[in-house]
Amino acid sequence: MAQPSSTVRESAPPSSRKSARPERPSFLRALRAVGQATAQPPRYEAPEVYGREAIWKIARALPPVEQAYAHIRFSILRPKLLSVMDLLLTDQGRILDVGCGFGLFAAYFGQTQPGRSIVGVDPDARRVKLATQVSKTLGLANTFQVGDVRDSTLEGPFDAAYVLDVMHHIPKDDQRAVLSRLRDLLVPGGTLIVKDITTEPRFGLAFTELLDRVMVGWDEPLAYRHHREWGQMLDELGFHVRMVRVPDILPYPHVVIAATKR
Ligand SMILES: C[S@@+](CC[C@H](N)C(=O)[O-])C[C@H]1O[C@@H](n2cnc3c(N)ncnc32)[C@H](O)[C@@H]1O
Repeated sequence: MAQPSSTVRESAPPSSRKSARPERPSFLRALRAVGQATAQPPRYEAPEVYGREAIWKIARALPPVEQAYAHIRFSILRPKLLSVMDLLLTDQGRILDVGCGFGLFAAYFGQTQPGRSIVGVDPDARRVKLATQVSKTLGLANTFQVGDVRDSTLEGPFDAAYVLDVMHHIPKDDQRAVLSRLRDLLVPGGTLIVKDITTEPRFGLAFTELLDRVMVGWDEPLAYRHHREWGQMLDELGFHVRMVRVPDILPYPHVVIAATKR
């Protein structure tokens, strides 16, 4: 095995050491080391968990009302929650964002790992238009399409998929078929992240439902499930399932489910 150059220099005979250039003063060596370190591209980064810069860039790319919405949404889906999901998602490849809305999280996860190419789908054409605009402004390789996850054409396979606070907007009888469709769209070993609201404690659910009603009105069905129900359903559909509940200052009963296609 080749010896590191420092070892070779130390084991050289005294005569050859004499002919070597005199050692520079230690502060000059330190200066040179710093110069070399800064010249190298960093191999490992640990971006700030709060991702404030990423969030501000997203908000600034939106019109004023949606800008305010973005700040509210990011204060609900707090950076600690986003970081859990960020680390569960593959850092490159194609990722499906189901019910992408304004594309806030496609823009967030696209910024944290630029190797990701996120495809968003949502039935709301105006949201899809703004999602496209935000990702374009930020120079991200994300694309968006108008459609319902239940029946729109989705070009798989995807390396991962995520469904952030969308499953409870899908009628109860269709939820299983949606998860089954997502499984079929994933590569083997691909991860599906479901972030939703679990049904306990009941006060937390009532609090969330009230705020959801403010957004969607009283006619749309809201179909929440207990996290154990989601877990069992995903297991039956051929996923390996892990879950965490993420406490919040506000009483949202957040649950993050990481389901890996077996
Ligand atoms: C609470 S918003 C969440 C948006 C986005 N995921 C986020 O976290 O900001 C729910 C979104 O799900 C979308 N949605 C509802 N039913 C859907 C369906 N069947 N297929 C795809 N998206 C759907 C809505 O249009 C809406 O944008």
